[in-house]
Amino acid sequence: MEKLMRKFFLFLSNNKLFTKAAKKYGLRVGAARFVAGETNQKAAEKIKDLNDKGLSVTLDYLGEFVTDASEARERADEYVDTIRTIAENNLDSQLSVKMTSMGMDISDDLIMENMKKILDAGKENGVFVTIDMEDYSRCQRTLEIFEEFRKDYDNVGTVIQAYLYRAAGDIKYLNKLNPNLRLVKGAYKESPEVAYPEKKDVDKNFRKLITMHLKNGNYTAVATHDDEIIRFTKKLVEQEEISRDQFEFQMLYGIRKELQEELVAEGYKVRVYIPYGKDWYGYFMRRLAESPANVAFVVKGVLKK
Ligand code: FDA
Repeated sequence: MEKLMRKFFLFLSNNKLFTKAAKKYGLRVGAARFVAGETNQKAAEKIKDLNDKGLSVTLDYLGEFVTDASEARERADEYVDTIRTIAENNLDSQLSVKMTSMGMDISDDLIMENMKKILDAGKENGVFVTIDMEDYSRCQRTLEIFEEFRKDYDNVGTVIQAYLYRAAGDIKYLNKLNPNLRLVKGAYKESPEVAYPEKKDVDKNFRKLITMHLKNGNYTAVATHDDEIIRFTKKLVEQEEISRDQFEFQMLYGIRKELQEELVAEGYKVRVYIPYGKDWYGYFMRRLAESPANVAFVVKGVLKK
């Protein structure tokens, strides 16, 4: 049943007619739970609310797979503007950036130009930037981009996906850079040739990567909503006497809010990943595809109106 539902929402998210109708007739009511609004000013209000509750933020300007150079440049300019908004409002927020939105599929020069602009602005204003990891075909190039920038910038990190067989090797290789890494299970549909097909193996590898990276002494963001992995991390840092300054938990905006606040109350650092921007629709559909609880939430919201 869950598989069917997932397919259904993924189909809707790619359907042009449905997209048009949904945008027009107010699915935004539900999307507001997962997306902070269409502008960085709107996102700033949400960041302030979360900061007031003790939560840190990483902000993602929605959009991926950009194929037009001027659009990729506009997106980089938007990120620079967002950095200014964060600094002017004294907000506790980082940025998350997808390389396909910066021109990865267009040219190497373009991506370097765009990322340099963002990282310079980030450096000047004390804003850290995480390079999100996308599908497997872009993994190697994304890590190379990270490596090139990491040599010159302290304010850049990236993501390692536990479902990939190569993940532990990548952590080992990157260790020489003392990288700040976000560790995740992985969100794309990948072939069994490159990724563990079974959840139990992904979870096992996730625990291995968390242990490796923390024991290497590097800053680790454990990005998950999984109670089991969170429990594991808490126990590990206690046993190994790892300082709370060396790691944080990260979760998506609108998902497991109570857990986010509980962790803050227990004294852990928690960062919420907030997407914003006009391209909210596909992101929203993917969140619905992931969980029946999210669909129920949206249906209730719409019925209440
Ligand atoms: P899992 O999917 O096993 O879920 C564990 C439990 O959490 C579920 O049983 C459910 O209770 C709850 N849960 C999970 N998702 C939920 C949802 N949508 N709604 C309601 N409950 C839910 N991936 C990637 O490939 N590249 C990236 O750059 C990133 N970046 C990233 C940043 C941050 C901050 C997070 C939290 C996640 C990512 N991801 C990602 C996504 C990640 O790879 C993964 O797909 C999701 O986090 C879901 O996996 P979990 O670890 O939460 O566990």
